[in-house]
Amino acid sequence: MDKKKTTGGVRHNNFLRGRFKDDISEMTAGFTSSLDIDKKLADFDIDGSIAHLYALRKAGIVGENEKNDIEKALLKIKAGIKSGTLELDKKYEDIHMNIENKLTGLLPEAGAKLHTGRSRNDQVSVDFRLYVKNDIKNIAEALIGLRSELIKIASSNIRTLMPGYTHFQHAQPVSLAHHILAYYEMFSRDFEKLANAFKTADVSTLGSGALAGADFDIDRRLEARMLGFSNISRNSIDAVSDRDFAIEFNFALSMIALHLSRFCEELIIWNGSEFGFIKLKDEFTTGSSIMPQKKNPDVLELIRGKTGGVIANLLSLFIMMKALPLAYNRDMQEDKKPVMESAGTVYNSLLIFKEIIKTVKFNKENMAAGLKDDSIYATDIATYLVKKGIPFRKSHEIVGRLVGYAESAGKTLSELSLKEYKKTADAIENDIFGIFNPVTSVNSKKTAGGTAFKEIGAAVKAYEKEIGKHKKLLEILK
Ligand code: ARG
Repeated sequence: MDKKKTTGGVRHNNFLRGRFKDDISEMTAGFTSSLDIDKKLADFDIDGSIAHLYALRKAGIVGENEKNDIEKALLKIKAGIKSGTLELDKKYEDIHMNIENKLTGLLPEAGAKLHTGRSRNDQVSVDFRLYVKNDIKNIAEALIGLRSELIKIASSNIRTLMPGYTHFQHAQPVSLAHHILAYYEMFSRDFEKLANAFKTADVSTLGSGALAGADFDIDRRLEARMLGFSNISRNSIDAVSDRDFAIEFNFALSMIALHLSRFCEELIIWNGSEFGFIKLKDEFTTGSSIMPQKKNPDVLELIRGKTGGVIANLLSLFIMMKALPLAYNRDMQEDKKPVMESAGTVYNSLLIFKEIIKTVKFNKENMAAGLKDDSIYATDIATYLVKKGIPFRKSHEIVGRLVGYAESAGKTLSELSLKEYKKTADAIENDIFGIFNPVTSVNSKKTAGGTAFKEIGAAVKAYEKEIGKHKKLLEILK
């Protein structure tokens, strides 16, 4: 915040000089610049420029030699930016101005024709759409990686049993695979959301000009084809002022982060001393600076913690767009940071989370220990009574009384004698004692999508097929 650095004047955007008498202040230049963020669009900006160049050639605005020279120069600039040999100039407020400046530096005459029939408004929209599409592909791939891992873990743990929870209390026995596959379901829905966001972004807005469309015979379909877009936008005013694609993408990212945060929370609990359901690999834990015995699940905690930022970024996009009149407004320059930040966070979270879950050791004994709590079979006893002809509401009440009696007698449900059972419900026979078996309990939940082994086996097969389909879809997009 050095005062000297924020005053003084220079017209930074040389291209825009004509209209102005006075120089732009350093303060304005610094405040309006987006280069630090949108430099990540460089590749896409050049791809967009080349597509536009071909349309200009077709429209007769540039000659064949000019087209070839400009294309060569643009590719040279692209390579220079990539290798770091070509430095971006802070004097130009954004990546679009920077690249155009480099181009006119190389080709003062021909280069100055490139911006014909184009505005930065359609330029930035198309660049950002390309960026979003590319990020979606990477994140979708990482998501498939995690989902495949979950299927593997589930297939080898169909018979690993644990207490299922509701209200964080022992509820009913379930298979570990079933629990893990619940997360598969979430991430599968997230994949669909990403695919939908991709579709929304997959529309070329190039050729919309500042807002009204462009003069000249610019072949928008040619541009779209060259850039790999499936469609072209239908209304130029909407095209330059629409950021739905960014919001949809960030919504999908927020859902992924939300689901990861739940999974992380669960693993943190399972890793805790009281549970001991899992052991995390050393490389994903950190030590304490004071307590030598500690192995902290910091990575999981950080994924959980970063979720707040991802959701906040979604809100910031919503709030930025709220009540903006048509068409382009400079507010919209603030769209890139939240999206880029969220995409990076979610991508990295998915990669590291996959490694964690892949290497986690499940302590099956500790999981099974939770099943020694007989109250977990209370619902099964109620079902037993239903099978003996007692209506469910009545049997629910009987079992409630049994649980209360056992508690007052200082016994567990399986420790009660048949005589004691019969006192509460005469329909109960000796076979009641077969109920206290987790395998029987789990396999009796045989509705579609239930935790019975057979159902989980079928789910695993269906998920494997689904993953195959999604992998193919991703290949087509690439
Ligand atoms: N840097 C701007 C952005 O990211 C590019 C578009 C500028 N358009 C304008 N009319 N000033 O939104």
